[in-house]
Amino acid sequence: MDLEQLAELRTPEGSAALAAAAEVAGGDPLAAAAALRSAGVPAGLAAAALTQAELRRRAVGKFGPVATRMFFTRAGLEQATRGVVARRRADRLRAAGVTTLADLGYGLGADALAAARAGIRVYGVEADPLTAAMAAANAEATGLADRFTVECGDATAFDVDRVDGVFCDPARRASGRRIFDPNAYSPPWDFVVGLAERVPRTVVKVAPGLDHALIPPGGEAEWVSVDGDLVEAALWCGELAAVARRATVLTEKPGTSGVGEPAVAHELTGSGTVEAPVGPVRRYVYDPDPAVVRAHLVAELAGELGATLADPAIAYLYADSPTPTPFGRCLEVTDVLPFSLKRLRALLRERRVGRVEILKRGSALEPEKLRRDLKLTGNEPASLVLTRVANAPTVLIARPLPPRPPRPG
Ligand SMILES: C[S@@+](CC[C@H](N)C(=O)[O-])C[C@H]1O[C@@H](n2cnc3c(N)ncnc32)[C@H](O)[C@@H]1O
Repeated sequence: MDLEQLAELRTPEGSAALAAAAEVAGGDPLAAAAALRSAGVPAGLAAAALTQAELRRRAVGKFGPVATRMFFTRAGLEQATRGVVARRRADRLRAAGVTTLADLGYGLGADALAAARAGIRVYGVEADPLTAAMAAANAEATGLADRFTVECGDATAFDVDRVDGVFCDPARRASGRRIFDPNAYSPPWDFVVGLAERVPRTVVKVAPGLDHALIPPGGEAEWVSVDGDLVEAALWCGELAAVARRATVLTEKPGTSGVGEPAVAHELTGSGTVEAPVGPVRRYVYDPDPAVVRAHLVAELAGELGATLADPAIAYLYADSPTPTPFGRCLEVTDVLPFSLKRLRALLRERRVGRVEILKRGSALEPEKLRRDLKLTGNEPASLVLTRVANAPTVLIARPLPPRPPRPG
């Protein structure tokens, strides 16, 4: 896709091609291309329309129903923030008094759209000309064009004195590859963290693997998971920082993409520096949510659950009774064995176990290889927890407790 093709898609002929592509997208791509060609759509336009139709279908999960009128690049859609996460951030910015926001590294506008919906005026800067042109078209498609401005340019040149808040989501990919070194982000890390010194209300989206040493002094680092998947971290700086560390656990309501309705959210906060107490393996094991683990809030969760670790370096928590929590899964431990393939296989056969889910922390074993090596034949389910206890490779046989419906809170 280039600027010329985008312009063509925005003509009446392009709109007709997009409408026809939407009818046939999602099925056999060759049949879809043939259908557009036989409807008289030129080959180049048909290919561009079909690509957009496919991306629009995929984008509904992140952007909501408005995605069917927006334009996407594959890379831009991959990097876009999920609707539930963007909405939550936008609501927090609005609640903190932000009325005008610079979105530096605007992309296709998932965060900007959420901010505009929250009533914030957004000034976007996007370096890539095609992405910027699509972003401008997308602002129009949302019906909120009066709340966005998207300029094509370098975010480092933007005059931040014009706004009362800044959001920056630096590009963490180059030539399709993920970048792990923040110094290679674009805009560069020095500029990104320097924003916090220039604008009192700055929030930066970063990779969830962020090294805690990079958190600016006095800043709040938040890790966010959606339905158990760790999706991002954010650094809330200056006046926006409320605590040192926060784990936000979101549950997406089915079919909403968080755009129309907010996600169910639970938050755990703390200093991120407390060590959880250590004790024996007990009857219930908790597998904490990845946002809790990455935020270094396992000790705070242990406090809520009356739980202990069995190994100071491994984030499984153990307790004598099960306490419902949105911050992790709870399983009932039936057996604790020093790891031995032979013994484990024999015990699972005796119990007629044929299906296992395998959880692991602190174990080098490969779950899929173990599953093959167990050669299970029965019908019963079981959960295996591969871990270490007092530095010894250990396997727990367990059964999950029935899930409870999430409580708002
Ligand atoms: C991770 S994406 C932003 C995604 C966006 N938050 C969303 O959810 O849709 C980062 C964007 O920053 C842009 N970018 C990179 N360096 C930039 C710079 N110096 N100035 C402006 N934009 C830049 C990239 O082209 C990319 O579109």
